[in-house]
Amino acid sequence: MIEVRRLEKTFPGKHGLLGHDAVKAVQDVSFRIPDGGAVSFIGESGCGKTTIGRILAGLENYTAGEVLVDGQNLATVDRRQREAVLRRVQLIQQDPYQALNPARTIEQALSDPLKVMAKARGADTAWILQRMEEVLGLVGLEPEAVVHKYPHMLSGGQRQRIVIARALTVEPSVLVADEAVSMIDVSLRLGVLKLLRDLREKFHISLIFITHDVASARYVGEDGQMFVIYKGMIAEQGPTDDVILHPQHPYTQALLSAVPVLKGLESPGSDRYIPLKELDHGQSPENACLFAPRCPFAQPLCETERPALQGASGHQYACHYPQERHVVAVALKE
Ligand SMILES: Nc1ncnc2c1ncn2[C@@H]1O[C@H](COP(=O)(O)OP(=O)(O)OP(=O)(O)O)[C@@H](O)[C@H]1O
Ligand SMILES: [Mg+2]
Repeated sequence: MIEVRRLEKTFPGKHGLLGHDAVKAVQDVSFRIPDGGAVSFIGESGCGKTTIGRILAGLENYTAGEVLVDGQNLATVDRRQREAVLRRVQLIQQDPYQALNPARTIEQALSDPLKVMAKARGADTAWILQRMEEVLGLVGLEPEAVVHKYPHMLSGGQRQRIVIARALTVEPSVLVADEAVSMIDVSLRLGVLKLLRDLREKFHISLIFITHDVASARYVGEDGQMFVIYKGMIAEQGPTDDVILHPQHPYTQALLSAVPVLKGLESPGSDRYIPLKELDHGQSPENACLFAPRCPFAQPLCETERPALQGASGHQYACHYPQERHVVAVALKE
């Protein structure tokens, strides 16, 4: 289980954290994922998705807020505990080729973390070999077919499966998949997405799925929560299909209208295309809606008061003038 409360991350600019060039990459983000649950983060490039993932994996510090993994607070555990806590959160990044050392075979890549695990539990070499076969089997690879190979001898999909197998060696409770299939051939993507979905079910691993792609977020986490992020803040959040089928925030609607076709798309209505104005760089005033400069529906209030999340606790949106617009229609079951 992982819980994040009011997470903030500011990258300092030349004039420090308070300077005009500081980047507020994550602002006031809270969520909670039960064991086996899923949360997806969608949003444009630069909205802070990777920063959230890196913070959870312990690769980036944060400016404020709390991160709790299986009830343990990252900020208050001692150094040794912190390592153990962070091991429970494994990050799967975009490029599986970069994640693997090209000069080492798959067997070598997997045996490193397994040796650490074996030492911790007093297990022997036989246990390492057995566990290696087990994790390779879990990710759908034939051990004999891959263990003696180097990463370049495998397909992109196989390489990402190896990265996932390596993550599984430490028995994580959370996987953070950051654009994990975007560099894989389209024909192999679905297999890796299915694997992530299966790991949730079989091992109750919680999944944080970071993507630009609404359809794959839906595939791995249809029963989970979707978070739409704009400039580091939550624009809309709710059960995945609720957000996709009943979006209230114009930004969510614009993102959805950029989705080419979702399976089961019915005849699109007049709301099909929500235009977005050009991306504005630089900071918005503290008291303005971050999205106002690009919003086709902005009103004067949007320039003077930042909207808080509103709506029923299940489905919320940070907009002064929420209005459901029918953008995509998807079949509820595939
Ligand atoms: N190490 C850093 N130093 C300064 N600014 C950074 C750093 N890392 C990220 N940023 C800034 O923080 C913001 C969020 O970046 P992040 O990489 O989290 O976005 P993202 O949503 O993952 O984008 P993409 O979809 O392109 O991967 C961006 O404005 C980025 O320029
Ligand atoms: Mg990113």
